[in-house]
Amino acid sequence: MATLPLSLSFISILLITFSTNATASKLFKETETHLHFYLHDILTGTESSSVLVAQGPNTSNHPTAFGAVLVMDSMLTETPNRNSKLIGRAQGMYALSSQEDRSLVIVVNLVFLQGEFNGSSLAVLGRIPLSSPVREMPVIGGTGRFRFARGYILNKPYEFDVVKGGILEYDVHVLHY
Ligand SMILES: *[C@@H]1O[C@H](CO)[C@@H](O)[C@H](O)[C@H]1NC(C)=O
Ligand SMILES: *[C@@H]1O[C@H](CO)[C@@H](O)[C@H](O)[C@H]1NC(C)=O
Repeated sequence: MATLPLSLSFISILLITFSTNATASKLFKETETHLHFYLHDILTGTESSSVLVAQGPNTSNHPTAFGAVLVMDSMLTETPNRNSKLIGRAQGMYALSSQEDRSLVIVVNLVFLQGEFNGSSLAVLGRIPLSSPVREMPVIGGTGRFRFARGYILNKPYEFDVVKGGILEYDVHVLHY
């Protein structure tokens, strides 16, 4: 008859675990933050913010440039004017990842350089179909003030050319503690 006490102690371990979690979640209050800024993605010239680091054997003839891999470090500014207040930088990489349409897989850290979020960052991993007027990307984590962050970004071209690059408008919605 050893099974009864065993299962009782299992239940009490469960109860202790639940009550510990309940106390912990009361200590931290989740908040929602909305950020709005413009990303400058310049693809040509000396001010270029993206660099092609690798490509497949047939990438240059492929209609969707499938296989191209680029590394980026782009400015995030308060208004579309590139001389406006620098909010942060988008540092990461993207690859042309579709054989059917021009779409990218993007892995990027948004690093903030102003105000209460100075030094904090958001980690983003998403898909960008270039033909779509609004693209949605998941925010999968963060650092500093953005620890435990999760959320989404809506990005749309503000003034953009597929060859030269340009300006993209970013709306970020995140939950964090
Ligand atoms: C390379 O690209 C050309 C042009 O799109 C295409 O016709 C050809 O099938 C491709 N070759 C391979 C091996 O993917
Ligand atoms: C952001 O933080 C860095 C490092 O602590 C500091 O040097 C810089 O002055 C801060 N920038 C602003 C705008 O507060």
